[in-house]
Amino acid sequence: MSLSFVSTSPIIEVQNLTQRFGTQEILHGISLSVQRGETLVLLGRSGGGKSVFLRHLIGLMRPASGKVLIDGQDISSLTERQLEHVRKKIGMLFQDGALFDSMNVFENVAFPLREHGERDENRIQEKVAHALQLVSLSGHDKKMPVNLSGGMRKRTALARAVISQPACILYDEPTAGLDPIVSDTINKLIRRLQKQLQVTSVVVTHDMTSANHVADRIALMHEGRIHFFGTLEEFHASRDPLLLDFLHGRSHEID
Ligand SMILES: Nc1ncnc2c1ncn2[C@@H]1O[C@H](COP(=O)(O)OP(=O)(O)O)[C@@H](O)[C@H]1O
Ligand SMILES: [Mg+2]
Repeated sequence: MSLSFVSTSPIIEVQNLTQRFGTQEILHGISLSVQRGETLVLLGRSGGGKSVFLRHLIGLMRPASGKVLIDGQDISSLTERQLEHVRKKIGMLFQDGALFDSMNVFENVAFPLREHGERDENRIQEKVAHALQLVSLSGHDKKMPVNLSGGMRKRTALARAVISQPACILYDEPTAGLDPIVSDTINKLIRRLQKQLQVTSVVVTHDMTSANHVADRIALMHEGRIHFFGTLEEFHASRDPLLLDFLHGRSHEID
């Protein structure tokens, strides 16, 4: 895919982000930018700090040092109220889906609209129908989360993430725990949303098949730093041992 969007200012820019828990430093100075309309895949080992990193992008965590700029605005020092405005621009698909088990599919998807003060029931119905159609879940609106398959739960969560028409969607391990066929559905949806809504996406994963399917560019996080940042083609052309281990699913811990 051509990277025609590189001329405009990045929608997300992270500068020298560090974060620690107690004495354990998790992020050691992460810098990267995400261009409008692209899908950036962030790869890295489990426990490496990918989810922690994502939480900084919507202000759920604040940097120990460094900056997170969204649309050029540094969000590190915003109040909760100011952050609400930022969170309207950025939808997040949490790893566990985080659906409300007591609400049916319709109410789960409508939730952000009601939260933002929408009272017009016709408009809510229209928007929910459109979001469900985007994730191919039309007709399932009365189902309760407990009666959904893993893939359908993810798609419901995705409909909820796009209902406020965010400019950007963050996906935390969207294919984890799903079988390859269902994973393929999710990968196709990530691409569909990019094309139909022109959204910018950041996809955190350790699933190389998914990365190959959705990535315009790849960032590889290793020991709290960005070890590689480039296009999918550059990633595949690289002879870097760390990248090759990832591509081939190799471990050196028990050699
Ligand atoms: N709120 C927290 N308090 C303390 N430690 C945390 C917290 N969140 C994450 N960690 C630790 O930070 C590290 C990175 O976690 P995480 O970002 O979830 O990794 P990944 O998503 O790459 O698998 C792990 O060692 C985890 O235990
Ligand atoms: Mg994680």
